[in-house]
Amino acid sequence: MTRNAVDVPVALLGYGTVGAAVHRLLDEQGDEIERATGHRLRVVRALVRDVDRDRPCSPGAGVLTTDFATIRDDPQVRLVAEVMGGLDPAGDHVVELLRRGTPVVTANKQLLARRGPELFEAAAGGGVQLRFEASVCAAIPVIKVLREALVVTNVHRVLGIVNGTTNFILSAMEGGQTYAEALAEAQRLGYAEADPAEDVGGLDAAAKTAILATVAFGSRVPVEWVEVEGIEGVTREHVAAARAMEMHVKLVARATLVGDLVDVRVGPALVDARHPLAAVEGAFNAVMLQGDAIREIMLEGPGAGGIETASAVVADMVSIVGTTGTGFLQNDPVWRELGRLPAGELASPWYLRLEVEDRAGVLARLAQELAAEGVSVARLVQQPADGHAVLHVVTHEAAQGGLERALAAIRALPESRGHASALPVVSDRGVEELGWA
Ligand code: NAP
Ligand code: HSE
Repeated sequence: MTRNAVDVPVALLGYGTVGAAVHRLLDEQGDEIERATGHRLRVVRALVRDVDRDRPCSPGAGVLTTDFATIRDDPQVRLVAEVMGGLDPAGDHVVELLRRGTPVVTANKQLLARRGPELFEAAAGGGVQLRFEASVCAAIPVIKVLREALVVTNVHRVLGIVNGTTNFILSAMEGGQTYAEALAEAQRLGYAEADPAEDVGGLDAAAKTAILATVAFGSRVPVEWVEVEGIEGVTREHVAAARAMEMHVKLVARATLVGDLVDVRVGPALVDARHPLAAVEGAFNAVMLQGDAIREIMLEGPGAGGIETASAVVADMVSIVGTTGTGFLQNDPVWRELGRLPAGELASPWYLRLEVEDRAGVLARLAQELAAEGVSVARLVQQPADGHAVLHVVTHEAAQGGLERALAAIRALPESRGHASALPVVSDRGVEELGWA
């Protein structure tokens, strides 16, 4: 430390995959941080469940504690990073710290998505900053871009791949690995949540989508508004059919502003091979932001992993020490109240997989049911299978409600073999469609 550097003792809530990496980065990059800010951030305490557990790297004598009060009541602690996860007790700890005037950085997307208003109220009450870059897409600085670089842009749509674990699994399945093998590998690499059901079931992506929509649209978007489907139902057949049609199966997050109404959803989709999201592989994430002046910006980078996430946590810590007192755009991002788009109204192109009898007139019956709901066919591939036909259909844009009614009618046809499923297709880039080109 140079003679003039300001010493900033900091504490961590959690010393797992992310917490240990934050400590490492603060130590290894200490000189750079000092050169940039004139501050030297030093980890003095870290909260864990078990101080005696074997850890890949030691935080130093006396740093680990199981007693939150030793952090809360330590007057030397100037800044806390919450990297423990879960809603309870993490939420109460963060609220207490903020109310007492300790700034907090969090990587906890569930906490922010579910208790955001309370956290921002506590931060305002304590007169301190709450930063949350690492809670969405790990290393990608999307929150900073939305809150600072795009502060005067009306963002209408956010489209992305926001969960590293599921993207890693789907990429591995394309390469021939099984779902179970790929999930085990994602856990070993530190990408998955403590309960990986949050990843594969889409809840992790749903929380991130609610946060992105809230920040992008400036209106509170509750996580309960997000229509969620995970990747548990994605089969090798889906992956193979997608490849045959030059598409890739991805877990896609979308937040769309339609007039004054918001639609938010997360689910498996077929992404056209020429679309930029199709090239996002492994644990990488990408977020495409579409808005008035900017037309379209895509940010891509590591979406999970200890050191990758620590990069965003440390950047937020550095921002806090660098902007304390100036208060640039640190308030609750919410400034208006938007409604929710009624279910089924959002339009998209769709991929349909239909199993039907292979005889004259069947295609015409299907086309009739689709047309009755205003669904128009763009591409069709037929494959023989065990005496019947499997149809892979890609439609033009159609509202989800009409598509679901058409599918129900098709399932009820005597010619149907009962299997009729749909996934949205991501092929457009949104610029022409919204009239900004
Ligand atoms: P982790 O490896 O499971 O580490 C959690 C840490 O918190 C451990 O040190 C654990 O103590 C401590 N902890 C958990 N519950 C506690 C409690 N009730 N009391 C005291 N200590 C407790 O988790 P992680 O992967 O680092 O993730 C941490 C947070 O970062 C989560 O919110 C996660 O969503 C977020 N995040 C993770 C990633 C990633 O790629 N891993 C990326 C972005 C965001 P012990 O060590 O004693 O068990
Ligand atoms: N489990 C999360 C993921 C970590 O796989 O994306 C990053 O938030």
